[in-house]
Parts: sequence; C-alpha cells; structure tokens
Amino acid sequence: MITITAADLEAMDKLARVGTTNSLGQTNLAPFSSVVHLGSRPALLGMISRPDLVERHTLSNITETRHWTINHVHPGMLDAAHQCSARYPREVSEFDATGLTATFHQDFPAPFVAESRLRIGMELQDILDIAANGTQLIIGKVVLIQSSHDIADDGSLDLCGMESLASTALDTYFSLQPLARLAYAKADQTPQRL
Ligand SMILES: Cc1cc2nc3c(=O)[nH]c(=O)nc-3n(C[C@H](O)[C@H](O)[C@H](O)COP(=O)(O)O)c2cc1C
Repeated sequence: MITITAADLEAMDKLARVGTTNSLGQTNLAPFSSVVHLGSRPALLGMISRPDLVERHTLSNITETRHWTINHVHPGMLDAAHQCSARYPREVSEFDATGLTATFHQDFPAPFVAESRLRIGMELQDILDIAANGTQLIIGKVVLIQSSHDIADDGSLDLCGMESLASTALDTYFSLQPLARLAYAKADQTPQRL
C-alpha cells in the first residue's frame, strides 16, 4: 500500500505557454500548467501565478495590458517551451531566445505562438490574492480561439490529434491518449459509455 499525502500531490494539468506583451510592446512567453476551467457562460479560465517575490513578467504584463494568450504545447515545440521557463531579463523576449514565432491577430495586443496548434486569446476579468500561500489567481474571459483542427459538432476539440501535452512537477511531460467517453452521470443510472 502506498500512502500519498497532500505534500506529495501534484495535479496533472494540460500544459500551455502564456504569451504577453508589456505596454511598450515587449513580448514575453512562459509555461503555465495551472490553467483551470472556471465556467462556460461566460467562458472563463483561471491560472495561478507564483508569489511575486521576484519579477513576474507574465503577471505584470497582464496587469498592464489586460490581455494574454494561452498556447498548447506539442512535442515538436517542447524543448523551446520548457526553455521559456528560464528567468530571462525583462528586455529579453523568450520568443527571440528560443526561436519560437510570435504572431498577432488583428488588434489583439498579446502575441500568439505560431507553432502552437491551439491558441486562445484571453481578456482579464479579475486577479484574486490567495492568502494561504501568496499566489494569485488570474481570471480571464476567452475572447478568441484558433485551432489547427476542426471543432466537432458537439463542440469538442481533438486534443489528442493536436498532440497537446500535459505536465507534472515542472519537469515531466506526458502525451495524451483517449481512454473513454461517458454520458452525463445520473443518480438513478449506472455509468453509460458513449
Ligand atoms: C512545466 C512548467 C509549468 C509551470 N507552471 C507555472 C504556473 O502554473 N504558474 C507559475 O507562476 N509558474 C509556472 N511555471 C514557472 C514559470 O514558467 C517561470 O517562473 C517563468 O520564468 C515565469 O516567467 P515570467 O517571469 O516571464 O512570467 C512553470 C514552469 C514549467 C517548466
């Protein structure tokens, strides 16, 4: 029997890189795995920013411009994505440092990652302080989605076909594999596989 305590737990989150720019147009890119769904009407996503004991370029750029992008990572861009977590000086863009390509959509202020197959444009709604550990929950509304694959009739995206990656513990990466799809659970029914 293996016992896992709260200290051992690391949730497996989808891995994404967050693209921002400051008010001078200086671009910035960082991996974030803490992205979480917060509701669908309006479509809200949250993500956790570490305590701002050191400069947090993503957080300060979002505060300045109120916009950012979430870009899924696939195997062909994994090394560059991971490298973006290095602490580069503010004046160095992780796009230039890693060779990833910034691409802009109309007048949306934050850069998207051209290599990414699923790109989401976000608009700031709120930033909440988490008193328990000094982190901050950044809440944004989905205002734009760009996908290299078609969206299915039921609204689902083929994350496996896009080879989207997941991560744990800031250094370990996983590919996704579909396992099962189940109907909406009802108290008077046993689980129904679709
Ligand atoms: C796989 C992975 C996931 C990460 N997830 C987060 C996260 O959810 N929140 C966070 O604040 N930092 C996260 N980090 C660390 C940031 O990417 C790192 O602190 C980065 O330097 C921040 O850059 P910035 O100052 O440009 O925002 C993660 C790093 C890796 C490698």
